[in-house]
Amino acid sequence: MKEYYIDELKQHIGEKAKLKGWVYNTRSSGKISFLMLRDGTGIIQAVLFHPNHTEERVKRFAELTQEASVIVEGLVKEDKRSPIGVEIDIEEFEMLGKSIDYPISPKEHGVDFLQSNRHLWLRSKRQMAIMKIRSDTIFYAREFFNNLNFLCIDAPIFTPSACEGTTTLFEVNYFDNKKIYLSQSGQLYMEAAALAFGKVYCFGPAFRAEKSKTRRHLTEFWQIEPEVAFFDISQDMQLAEDMVFYILQKLLERRQEEFKILERDIKPLENVKKPFYRLSYTDAIELLKKKKIEINWGDDFGAPDESAISEEFDRPVFIHRYPSKIKAFYMKHDKDDDNLALGFDMIAGEGYGETIGGGQREENIEVLLKRLEEHKLPQEAFNWYLDLRKYGSVPHAGFGMGIERFVQWITKTQHIREVIPFARTMDRTEP
Ligand code: 4AD
Ligand code: MG
Repeated sequence: MKEYYIDELKQHIGEKAKLKGWVYNTRSSGKISFLMLRDGTGIIQAVLFHPNHTEERVKRFAELTQEASVIVEGLVKEDKRSPIGVEIDIEEFEMLGKSIDYPISPKEHGVDFLQSNRHLWLRSKRQMAIMKIRSDTIFYAREFFNNLNFLCIDAPIFTPSACEGTTTLFEVNYFDNKKIYLSQSGQLYMEAAALAFGKVYCFGPAFRAEKSKTRRHLTEFWQIEPEVAFFDISQDMQLAEDMVFYILQKLLERRQEEFKILERDIKPLENVKKPFYRLSYTDAIELLKKKKIEINWGDDFGAPDESAISEEFDRPVFIHRYPSKIKAFYMKHDKDDDNLALGFDMIAGEGYGETIGGGQREENIEVLLKRLEEHKLPQEAFNWYLDLRKYGSVPHAGFGMGIERFVQWITKTQHIREVIPFARTMDRTEP
């Protein structure tokens, strides 16, 4: 008998098929029993009509409990009422691994309990839908850059220096008591790679030791970071807009079923059009003041400020030209106003905040030396980075998008810990 995955069965109506998976649930009424079987590609209803079977088999069916692993053989039948269009008429089945007292039942559980059982919680319908959207997000982000002939250049995780501020560095004890840090961002290495290959990106984990417990902070998250030689801030924002729009269209095309499972109203996503809005930091401050939010020019935005901005727009908005004082050392300053950095954030829609951070980099070695000093960063650790300004320096720009922040918005998930397979936060490092 041929083996299939559940998502292939629609093409095999009338055939006999063998399926391998796990029991999502079972129920019986009178002479008929139902098994909801999941295999990662979908969930299918398998039917056991008692009069067609031996007493022994019907008895064995009663032993199938939630999350037992099972092999099912039977006839693939069209079923118009099923969301996947087919069901299975069981001929035989075999339990592989039993599952007694599975801790997660369909009833409500507390978040802490579910987080502690993340290794099992992943099997639920909602988590499966989120992980599929996450997987596609990564795939289509890579595809977007591949289509534009970007090279994927991986950045190291052990790094000798800070990229995003020394207060959020995780220190690691390397050999001979040498101090080294977990990467906050691949950016500095992408700058080297951009000057070697023109258009590059990296995709990898990033680590932040900020003592923050908000619903959008992880200590370990995943970032996609392009960097392009000869780009300025406007071209950089355009690239970010094109990337976000591309991924969004692909997800809307491919993940309708998952959005339904998540009860995600996709109207606001379908309404996202190009161009996204562009707003200077100074104008954003004015907007917040008009909304009676207490904030002064020079303050960084908190999550409530970003949400308030996002509520005003029906699609993502770029905030550009922040006060240089609140931005990283590598940002180029605006030639028209030295108090402004040529950096931008993309604020996602529907109250979700910063999802992308990026901008144009300082390419002048004298200026950069001064910035390192102002930020009290040790020059020795950055000598290689300064070399990039010594040998054929060019204007360049790039950005980083946190995959989880993006998926949190797309799936409209309350807390970011649900959109990464195994979350690391201030108070959780297990399982
Ligand atoms: O704004 P950030 O700190 O910028 C950088 O790291 C730049 N070096 C990127 C670059 O230009 N190549 O981080 C970029 C994005 C944020 O917009 C956010 O989406 C995500 O990374 N991010 C986090 N996601 C989850 N938890 C955290 N603690 C995050 N910190 C940043
Ligand atoms: Mg940022």
